[in-house]
Amino acid sequence: MARTSGIAIDQSLPTPLYQQLFDEIVRRIESGALPSEFQLPPTRDLAREVGAHRNTVVRAYSDLEAAGFVHSTVGRGTFVTRIKRGATAKPAKEGNMPWSMLLSGVARSEIVSRKAPVPLTTNVIDLYRMQPSDDLLPHEMFRRCIDYTLRIRKAEAMRYAPAEGLLRLREAIVEDLARQGVPATPEDVVVTSGSQQALDLVARALVEPGDFVALDRLAYSGAIQALTLAHARLIHVPNDSNGIDHLALDRVDRSRLKLLYTMPNASNPTGVRMSQERRRAVVEWSQRNRVPLVEDDYVADLLLDPGAALAPLRALDGDVLYLGTFSKRLMPGLRIGYLVTPPSLRETFTSLRRALDLGASALMQYALAEFLERGYLRAHLARTLPLYRRRRDVLERALANHLPKGCAVTHAVAGVTTWIDLPEGVDAARVAQRALVKGVNLAPSSAFATEQSVRQGLRLVFARETEPRLIEGAKRLAEAIEDEMRRRAGHDSGVSP
Ligand SMILES: Cc1ncc(COP(=O)(O)O)c(C=O)c1O
Repeated sequence: MARTSGIAIDQSLPTPLYQQLFDEIVRRIESGALPSEFQLPPTRDLAREVGAHRNTVVRAYSDLEAAGFVHSTVGRGTFVTRIKRGATAKPAKEGNMPWSMLLSGVARSEIVSRKAPVPLTTNVIDLYRMQPSDDLLPHEMFRRCIDYTLRIRKAEAMRYAPAEGLLRLREAIVEDLARQGVPATPEDVVVTSGSQQALDLVARALVEPGDFVALDRLAYSGAIQALTLAHARLIHVPNDSNGIDHLALDRVDRSRLKLLYTMPNASNPTGVRMSQERRRAVVEWSQRNRVPLVEDDYVADLLLDPGAALAPLRALDGDVLYLGTFSKRLMPGLRIGYLVTPPSLRETFTSLRRALDLGASALMQYALAEFLERGYLRAHLARTLPLYRRRRDVLERALANHLPKGCAVTHAVAGVTTWIDLPEGVDAARVAQRALVKGVNLAPSSAFATEQSVRQGLRLVFARETEPRLIEGAKRLAEAIEDEMRRRAGHDSGVSP
């Protein structure tokens, strides 16, 4: 009697049947359900069992054999190949090189050697990482674009791409930028490995060791690190609720000031959005003093409130260096961002990009261009933006209900983070430690500062967690703040904690 394999395929799915069979058999081999030398059912039997044409099974078996998962012998059948995993990994012998003494100053600096956030476990409520939760990542839509690219582009998708990025992708990016009011031609765009690399390119191209770069008092930690790697000296400029203070900029010694780095649509971490008037004032300051602006628009397309769209700095001044990314609105794992450069720097940035890493993956660039051309980004945003709005509203409501007096929440107009100013004298890093003990992970202001005496606050990401977990996170955080306030009060009055 013929054995049944238990393998099933779903005729209603858009995935081709041979592919489903391939995936299912690989899954079983990898899980150990189909052991080494296990004989797969004859193609005719499996085709009957799963209700597919025999050619479908023949194709799946042939793909499995090509990928090394099975081997076939004429007249005998198809058998699972033994997969060796990890058996050959060997650690190198411990040597005597005094590595730590050989490290460069910047590699050893506190800013560059800061640790990554604590590893994820499902029981910790994650308000730290600025990336979408898994249900908001468009893997199925992107898989279709990769499949299509490999089928249509074939070997072309496996070559080196031009260092400045594929023209097709740069054209699609320019169309996307036009929708957001950012003037650019495809020649102005250099595709980068995330906008972090765009920042690195800007620092390498323009900053000499010891040059000053101005930025917010609390600023994106990756910008602080990229500028530190270029040996820049940082000048932290105060800001108010309209953005970086242009009058304070006037008081900065301009003699060696090379750049002003700013995030007009939502400053990371404080969420402050630069008003239209302030944007004009900052552009005027830049033109008057001949200090270029670096506009980091990491939250493009993530405008959460109606009427939130304001003219980008680049629309007010063609000499602005504009950084964009697909990490926050789409998926950080793509590692695709871009730099929009003034015409006279196009060649410089292209050469630098080539010298750094020879350019980005052609396969990913073709797939992303396909994604954009098919209108999938718009469709993805139509699904995710309402969810982000809901998550923000739920978090901000819960914070209003639970936070102790003295905390002030900055409403998130754009992006995926909410900011809390802590009451006078309460230390943000200590609150973050207490919150972690209670199972909530978030970023304290110290992660975004190079000075001690900064405004004490917390950045909360609402992109990753479900609504009930956001509410629970707000409650536990409120307890952590209260605990820290009690400890301080006890400490101040001489009572031991
Ligand atoms: C303000 C800002 N700029 C740039 C980046 C870099 O992002 P990516 O390199 O993924 O484009 C980030 C990442 O968190 C960010 O917060």
